Amino acid sequence: MALWGRMLWALFSGPRRRGGTQGWAFSSWQPHPPLAGLSSATELVSYWTGVFEKRGIPEAQESSEYIVAHVLGAKTFQSLKPVLRTYPLTPQQLKCIQELSRRRLQRMPLQYILGEWDFQGLNLKMVPPVFIPRPETEELVEWVLEDVAQRSHAVGAQGGPLILEVGCGSGAISLSLLSKLPQSQVIAVDKEVTAISLTHENAQRLRLQDRIQIIPLDVTLEGSWIHLLPWGFMDLIISNPPYVFHQDMELLAPEILSYEDPAALDGGEEGMDIITQILMLAPQLLKYSGPRFLHIQRSGP
Ligand SMILES: C[S@@+](CC[C@H](N)C(=O)[O-])C[C@H]1O[C@@H](n2cnc3c(N)ncnc32)[C@H](O)[C@@H]1O
Repeated sequence: MALWGRMLWALFSGPRRRGGTQGWAFSSWQPHPPLAGLSSATELVSYWTGVFEKRGIPEAQESSEYIVAHVLGAKTFQSLKPVLRTYPLTPQQLKCIQELSRRRLQRMPLQYILGEWDFQGLNLKMVPPVFIPRPETEELVEWVLEDVAQRSHAVGAQGGPLILEVGCGSGAISLSLLSKLPQSQVIAVDKEVTAISLTHENAQRLRLQDRIQIIPLDVTLEGSWIHLLPWGFMDLIISNPPYVFHQDMELLAPEILSYEDPAALDGGEEGMDIITQILMLAPQLLKYSGPRFLHIQRSGP
């Protein structure tokens, strides 16, 4: 069997779009409302950047820019029209920025504060404690797409590969593959109800629900693979499984430790619990002949 096991290792940093998330300090400090006269988006960004920096919040400027832009209905501060950056904000907008910034001071990840995040060009809903897709996982998707393109003549009786994702979380990997591979079908499994329900929501949101089966399944349970047989043998198995050594869990950044599901990160004593399980399942579930792929990535936290 051909196995392409790809493993990426990352330092204990938080989820990020650019740069890293490092260092932390919880605090009982309460922010004061911005001083009277601070009312434009630009002023608010610089006010909250200063507050975040003083409180040791990682990615201070990025955080304040995303929050202010979000309240003004834009994705990034840079995409705001110059006139909107200097225009006075309404009391309601100021209050909203204050509330979202308060959450950031409590170390909530931006992705949960905003309630959405982009992955491979798709806008996904984000809800705690479901794992926030990491930038490295976008590379995993790219690799799979490359492999599929190279073997497109051989995979998938229906014209596209049948893909199994173990541990779908928000659905980021499965849904981005479906969006790029219009002929393929995905079986997405996860043991957490919150993850299953978020993948359902994101599939509907992206109108990809017709090509994905979302199944609550704990792959560590004996015989769990039998529940997957009705869908036939897979062309490809993909997973970004939990892999943090159990004893290292407490070293994770507070953004992760306080908000993300430990079940998405804790890989057991040697970090291999789920990986071992997937390697055992693979021969039962992958097609017997023709090209078969198994991509396992260890990315984040
Ligand atoms: C690191 S997260 C990856 C989520 C998503 N694939 C991504 O890359 O954003 C690992 C996922 O595996 C799920 N998981 C953990 N143990 C599992 C198990 N025994 N069976 C099925 N899913 C499991 C977790 O609930 C979590 O959603």
